[in-house]
Amino acid sequence: MDTDVYQQLSARVGRCHIDLRLGIEHDRETWVFGQGRSFFHIENWYSVHGFIRNTLRLCLLHAKGQNNARSIQVRHNEFFFENLPKEFDGFKLLHLSDLHLDSGLGIPEAHIDALQQVGDYDLCVITGDYRNKTFGPYQRALDAMKRVLAPITTPVYGVLGNHDTIRMASGLEDLGVRMLLNEAVPIEKGISTLWLAGIDDAHYFRADNIEKATDPIPQDVVSILLSHSPEMYRQAAYARFDAMLCGHTHGGQICLPGGIPVMLNANAPRALCNGPWRYHAMQGYTSVGSGSCIVDVRLNCPPEITVHTLRRGSPVKVAR
Ligand SMILES: [Fe+2]
Repeated sequence: MDTDVYQQLSARVGRCHIDLRLGIEHDRETWVFGQGRSFFHIENWYSVHGFIRNTLRLCLLHAKGQNNARSIQVRHNEFFFENLPKEFDGFKLLHLSDLHLDSGLGIPEAHIDALQQVGDYDLCVITGDYRNKTFGPYQRALDAMKRVLAPITTPVYGVLGNHDTIRMASGLEDLGVRMLLNEAVPIEKGISTLWLAGIDDAHYFRADNIEKATDPIPQDVVSILLSHSPEMYRQAAYARFDAMLCGHTHGGQICLPGGIPVMLNANAPRALCNGPWRYHAMQGYTSVGSGSCIVDVRLNCPPEITVHTLRRGSPVKVAR
């Protein structure tokens, strides 16, 4: 990492955070195995992606799956908060996740097409995984991000996922994405404020620090947490976040008929791995993501970008 960037980021988020991230990334780059936290982990499957692709070809599903991966849907969700300030009633958050923009031909274009169908929104948030692989070059992903961000005119906030190096953080900020590295920022509208916090990846790097992200947030204000993975749901709920937005699971990406995932790659209940959910007083939403990884194919699990509308009122019971 460039010395100036290192010093700048260290001064902002702490030397320990940057050093542990860079250290674990170095270990990951040099290991033969160990891309995930255990051997039987999807991040270890790059060596068998040809096998998965050929199996899908044999089943005549590869072309269909690739087509599905480029047909990004717009999903809508509502969050209800009793203490939401009037100014934020109807506030819309555009949520992107798991873009994996360098995973195949036509993926950035599919995102740009989907963004044209969204309509108005007030803020954009991105819950990580910009790159396809969990290691190696990242400039192609940043170049594609530049194109995807071009039509977005609102402020953009993001967190890093387990496929992202912390070296990408300054590049993303140069593109206008304010990265939340265990940080929180106030979002103001009129005389009212809600708080948006973001934690670094908790799935692989364990570089999350929810205490630090929560510290600046005053009591009794609506607060929303961005986390790459839903695995921090308990900590987020007991840290008194009102809502948590995340991704990472891809909803399974290659699912059985009926959208039943074979594998979700997250240490969280299945009910928390796709769409809206609730844990005690906290509402949550797990995006199935707009991209795909390992193979650029989706079956029975269409990619999504999500528009969350904030409403004043009692939370709706999620039937899960
Ligand atoms: Fe991920």
